[in-house]
Amino acid sequence: MIIKIEDVSLWRGSKFLLKNVNWQIEEGEQWAIMGLNGSGKTTLLNMINGYLFPSSGNVEVLGKTFGHYDLRELRKLIGWVSTAIQERFYLNESALDIVISGKEAVIGLFDEPSRHDILVASDLLEQLGCIDYAHRPYQTLSQGEKQKVLIARALMAKPRLLILDEPCTGLDLFAREQLLRYIDKLSRQSEAPALIYVTHRTEEILPVFDKVLLMKDGGVFAAGRRNDLMTEELMNEFLEAPVSLEYKDRRHWMNLIAFPE
Ligand SMILES: Nc1ncnc2c1ncn2[C@@H]1O[C@H](COP(=O)(O)OP(=O)(O)OP(=O)(O)O)[C@@H](O)[C@H]1O
Ligand SMILES: [Mg+2]
Repeated sequence: MIIKIEDVSLWRGSKFLLKNVNWQIEEGEQWAIMGLNGSGKTTLLNMINGYLFPSSGNVEVLGKTFGHYDLRELRKLIGWVSTAIQERFYLNESALDIVISGKEAVIGLFDEPSRHDILVASDLLEQLGCIDYAHRPYQTLSQGEKQKVLIARALMAKPRLLILDEPCTGLDLFAREQLLRYIDKLSRQSEAPALIYVTHRTEEILPVFDKVLLMKDGGVFAAGRRNDLMTEELMNEFLEAPVSLEYKDRRHWMNLIAFPE
């Protein structure tokens, strides 16, 4: 079992951020998460990473139950890529150093990196098509370039679980397809980490994501097989608006038909 979330609720004052969430990820499953702004996706991911503690219920991640393990050790097993992380880096560090620092899941490099670490990090940058700017300061990179460096960084620790929270934000049409191709390739590698992919765009949910979690108002609206959930009927109900869903190139493309008044 990769993740087991049982009856989890989280409240702040009288406001529920998460409400009776039940969700399980089994070994070998790849999940996509969708839900409107404020539906609780990032809150749920923060809980999986141990940055938030449930007000009630149980969270088990990679076989460890909350409150009974060293969070720092667990975080090394989880790679987390989100644009929110970008501001936390030393902006003058090179892309390569930022990737290397991912090995210990810390911000900043304190020791001289080993030859081996430099080779592994360079190889990851090469795979992601970033090797040309390995020695450039992070702050000089474009949004898409930064995003790819962060993915390389997350992979440096060889995580068992890789969480991608809207990784295509700010990417142009080509950069997005390039990144999606890489994610597809990564998912097919032997010893690939379990993936959680958060997005607002159905077409980013690649065929490899066989499972989908739909979040609404802090709760689970539906969880199950992608092909069962990706129907116009269910999406209309989920979004409370008429949408069309076209299946093309093994991906679902969604459009709003009318704006709900
Ligand atoms: N500490 C807090 N106190 C009060 N409300 C909070 C707190 N943290 C988050 N929220 C609220 O919880 C809700 C869920 O936030 P969350 O960031 O999980 O949404 P999300 O699904 O990731 O949305 P988005 O698609 O915009 O990223 C939001 O309404 C947010 O304002
Ligand atoms: Mg979010």
